[in-house]
Amino acid sequence: MLAGIGVSAEKYVVGTSADFPPFEYVEDGEFVGFDMDLIRAIAEVEGFEVEIRDMSFDSLIAALKSGNIDIAIAGMTITEKREKVVDFSIPYYTANQSVIVKEDSDLNLTVLYGDNNVGVQTSTTGDLWVTDNLEKKGILTGKVVRYDTFVLAVTDLVNGNLDAIVLDSPVAERFVDSHPLKEVGIIITGEEYGIVVNEGNKDLLNKINNGIKKLQESGVISKLVGKYFK
Ligand code: ARG
Repeated sequence: MLAGIGVSAEKYVVGTSADFPPFEYVEDGEFVGFDMDLIRAIAEVEGFEVEIRDMSFDSLIAALKSGNIDIAIAGMTITEKREKVVDFSIPYYTANQSVIVKEDSDLNLTVLYGDNNVGVQTSTTGDLWVTDNLEKKGILTGKVVRYDTFVLAVTDLVNGNLDAIVLDSPVAERFVDSHPLKEVGIIITGEEYGIVVNEGNKDLLNKINNGIKKLQESGVISKLVGKYFK
């Protein structure tokens, strides 16, 4: 290549929902977290650029389908239903669901039964679990309150407007550490997170998968785990 003449790297728009510490959140006006470091590291080893865009979790798949974003990384669980409309990378993290309540509450796992109000983030696996296993079966007779962001749900729980929240365990642990909340149970779902592209975008998916493999082999991913999960 001639000095000074370069081919500028391809730039991809990456959608996330930055309400999910330690995977994606905002600190000093920057998008930070495990997923943010991961996608930037993949871009670096695969030679592309990224521009991060924040949106509600619920709109990520539609944004991929319409071409508004090229990649979604948001602690998104690989599910059969989502696989029908988008393509997932190889898994990069495994999680379960947790049930959290106020620290001074006497409620335990039975908070999921009867006349209690349970918060979830719209369209998450926690939402689907509560809807299918509790709401539709009439086990939970209170309200399922669906939020755009977990930050809003946590505020309502702290203020006593909710009895419990069901959310991914690694994130629940983070909110419990920083708020007067406690975990009262874990629902073992063993779900796996993947990075998402629109259906059929094989080129980009290959780059992402190759990037994940390189970062696994070079130990960068274990370093990220060490950085965000002590
Ligand atoms: N893992 C869950 C799911 O895929 C929750 C992900 C929520 N992510 C976020 N950035 N708020 O449904």
